[in-house]
Amino acid sequence: MKVVLSYSGGLDTSVCIPLLKEKYGFDEVVTVTVDIGQPEDDVKRAEERGKKYADKHFTVNARKEYVEMLFKLIKANGDYEGYVLGTSIARPVIAEKIVEVAKAEKADAIAHGCTGKGNDQLRFENIFYQYGFRVIAPMRELNLTREWEIEYAKQHGIDVGVTKEKPYSIDENLWSRSVEGGKLEDPSYIPPNDIYKWTVDGKDEPEILKIDFEKGIPVAINDERMDGFELIKTLNEIGGKHGVGRTDMMEDRVLGLKARENYEHPAATILITAHRDLEKLVLSRRELKFKKFVEEEWAEVVYYGLINDPIFDALNAFIDKTQERVTGWVKVRLFKGSVLPVARYSDYSLYVEELTSFDTTTVDQKFAEGFSRFHGLQGRLYKEIIKKLKGD
Ligand code: ARG
Repeated sequence: MKVVLSYSGGLDTSVCIPLLKEKYGFDEVVTVTVDIGQPEDDVKRAEERGKKYADKHFTVNARKEYVEMLFKLIKANGDYEGYVLGTSIARPVIAEKIVEVAKAEKADAIAHGCTGKGNDQLRFENIFYQYGFRVIAPMRELNLTREWEIEYAKQHGIDVGVTKEKPYSIDENLWSRSVEGGKLEDPSYIPPNDIYKWTVDGKDEPEILKIDFEKGIPVAINDERMDGFELIKTLNEIGGKHGVGRTDMMEDRVLGLKARENYEHPAATILITAHRDLEKLVLSRRELKFKKFVEEEWAEVVYYGLINDPIFDALNAFIDKTQERVTGWVKVRLFKGSVLPVARYSDYSLYVEELTSFDTTTVDQKFAEGFSRFHGLQGRLYKEIIKKLKGD
């Protein structure tokens, strides 16, 4: 019997390798690490460990597919309760790649290292079940503690460099870095600065960046065209130096559990801030208002791991229609953790200086008088009626 294991190289998934044999009776464990822009060292380390501890290992590059998903996210201003969805949106991309390997390997089951308390189990399994695979989740089924895992790994000659002192659970990819667990589980505890890796407190000099968008997709930084992967990576580096993109928040998991979450995501914050600003220049008031509802639904669908639901394509179709005109540029000022749009331009701008300006007479202001007579009519009537009924 053969099982394909979604493998990060960390403690949980490494412990799964012997567990799948000893507790589940598999003869062959195939590990798969999917590259979605996590630190290259992590991918390399996972590959080394997979090759060492499993029977067979695959490293699959899904950067292209991931960036395509991130473009959808940017167009949707992806935001769930203030979280940029970095882990959420990566899961279906990873799952599809795992399924490809599982099919090619004619595996009897797919295993993952998610616990029974988080969201990732739902996001992964939705895709695995879609392809009819049997799913094994040792971490959920065996109720293991971290301490037990460390001991078990030791006994099986597995060295993953985890100590009891640094017990954070970290999930990192091109879009965001998430830090959970340990002392951070107390929401009243202020995290030490060393939980952050992508961001510092921020330089003393501000910096202005120009970001070009074409149909809602970022294509250039300071007039230099880059592919999506490079562009996001570059913005993570620049934004990180200005302390941009830290989040410390309470989050409602799908199961209803609240969790304290810490995230870093400089590029996400810069791009969404700039993109929203450009949309305000080109989209109509009605479009902007309705798109907010669409975005809220979009974010929830992604957070819940339900992107195979037909609504996902329907929402994207609406969003894509609006993005046809989201072409232009925004300049943002980065300074000590803040991103402030300070200039914007688009050929599709609905702003007409000639009309709005204090200094022109193109619009005959007298036309506004009749409008103003009717504006607020019902409120005035209401106030009058109440006054009359009260008899004063
Ligand atoms: N709460 C986030 C989500 O559900 C991130 C979870 C990240 N996992 C981690 N082990 N740090 O999408």
